[in-house]
Amino acid sequence: MTTKKIAVLNGPNLNLLGKREPDLYGTLTLAQIEDACRTRGKLHGVEIHCRQTNNEGELVSWIQEFGDSDGIILNAAAYTHTSVALRDVLKAIVAPCIEVHISNIFAREEFRQVSHVAPVAIGTICGLGAKGYELAIEALASLVSADDRN
Ligand code: DQA
Repeated sequence: MTTKKIAVLNGPNLNLLGKREPDLYGTLTLAQIEDACRTRGKLHGVEIHCRQTNNEGELVSWIQEFGDSDGIILNAAAYTHTSVALRDVLKAIVAPCIEVHISNIFAREEFRQVSHVAPVAIGTICGLGAKGYELAIEALASLVSADDRN
């Protein structure tokens, strides 16, 4: 059996986690969140590939690259609210995507309440802080093992 692979992709300004608006986004750094994701992946025998970029096109290219993987966990940050290219690429691939936001985008400004990712994701986790990433891994890992049983 080949090792299962899940990508954790983060968009613009998430490299600043830890010092960026801690009241909203918490005090954990992205490196700490990614470590927690890898640890959680290990528990399920899933390889976790973590990347962050401030560039929309790079995010699109990575989604293409992981298009045949077992899943993509995507916090597209501000591009969530603006990027048709992200929506299109997520429609074009086979890997299931779970959208994650640290903050509750539905309790914030009106422009954040629109997500171009949500309609093409299998689900969204938002407002649960950095834990949302680990919960998304749990969800994808259980989907992957359910697939194996079918
Ligand atoms: C965010 C919410 C977005 O609206 C914002 O642009 C971000 C972070 C979140 O994780 O809560 O950069 O995606």
